[in-house]
Amino acid sequence: MGCQSKILTEKTSLKIIVASDLHYFLKDYYQDCEWFEESMLYGDGKMVTYGDEIVNAFIKAVIKEKPDIVLLTGDLTFNGEIGSHQQLAQLLTQITKQNIPVAVIPGNHDIDNIYTKGYGQDDYFDVDNIDAQTFREIYHNLGYQLASATHAGSLSYRIDLNDDYVLLMMDSNAHELTKMTLGAGGFFTDSTMQWLKQQLSDIQSQGKIPLVAMHHNLAIHNELLNEGYTIQDHESIAELFAEYHVPFVLSGHIHCQNIREIQGIYDIASSSLLDAPLQYGIIELDNQNMNYHTESLQISVDANDYFDQVTSHRFADDFQKITDEKKRVAIEDVMIKTNRYYFTGNINEYVDEIKQSQGYQYLQEEENLAFYQQYLESMLKETASSQQLSLTIEK
Ligand SMILES: [Fe+2]
Repeated sequence: MGCQSKILTEKTSLKIIVASDLHYFLKDYYQDCEWFEESMLYGDGKMVTYGDEIVNAFIKAVIKEKPDIVLLTGDLTFNGEIGSHQQLAQLLTQITKQNIPVAVIPGNHDIDNIYTKGYGQDDYFDVDNIDAQTFREIYHNLGYQLASATHAGSLSYRIDLNDDYVLLMMDSNAHELTKMTLGAGGFFTDSTMQWLKQQLSDIQSQGKIPLVAMHHNLAIHNELLNEGYTIQDHESIAELFAEYHVPFVLSGHIHCQNIREIQGIYDIASSSLLDAPLQYGIIELDNQNMNYHTESLQISVDANDYFDQVTSHRFADDFQKITDEKKRVAIEDVMIKTNRYYFTGNINEYVDEIKQSQGYQYLQEEENLAFYQQYLESMLKETASSQQLSLTIEK
């Protein structure tokens, strides 16, 4: 037998918590930098400077929920700083000390990152990044100790959850090419692919159901924003997963809460834990049914307001072109709200309201805002909630 019969739990019903893209940034790396916090308001919406508060709120919520396992699907750190990794690993031991196992995989920001740096009073300062081996060492008690099989050529590993399910924690970052992967998107190397196939076949021969977690997306979540998000060769990988009856995949990376089906497989992309509404997923799973829903964290500030502020800054330059102030305000309002609902994963509840709004009508009349018209339409295509999913599991 190639695989040890080490299983995580004897239980037939599993509760799994999943979160993604924590982008934890150790405070020492920016505490003397006055403009860092300000710059985040012009970023992509991640509440990086609230990282400690959010991660602590998450840890509390997890301990209260008592899942069988917690999964973090990559981009654990801001830009792969060694101190951020070490501190996050330390914080997560609060969960493992309660006998709740945590399992992590790396994202494209975590290893051999070329943008790793600290933000000082007047200038950037040098900070060490980490390599793949150091990742394995830092997180040795946060996933790798649970492995019933590991892939030597990547950071992928296998966890036999119970008698029904096996989880493949797949490393979709090719570390030998990391300098490219920030922009180039994820892929499985040939050797990772080979290992994946062996595992899928082994799981099938044991009569168990394979589940997959990976940082990059299996499905295209948004037709306008998919470059660099979806894993390379996603269609043939989905075909492989379909062949082995993988019911769902857990991913992250796109920072937006979105569920898409590809070849009968649901790709549940968890939004960034640092983006409004600061959500994570809870999966309840037995050998017949899977139920997934999200929960949000509360912190000292309103995460929705923060997100709206960042969106407003991002759109500001383009919307300045709208000379009629009444129109500008109405268009801005609808774009900001729609963007947040979309990232939150509940835009389906607001489609009619948005289409009937004044801002939506005004935007149609604008000649120089084609991108926004297309982006808005792409978001309005969501007909189902991405904050919940129920599946019947077929063996
Ligand atoms: Fe990320």
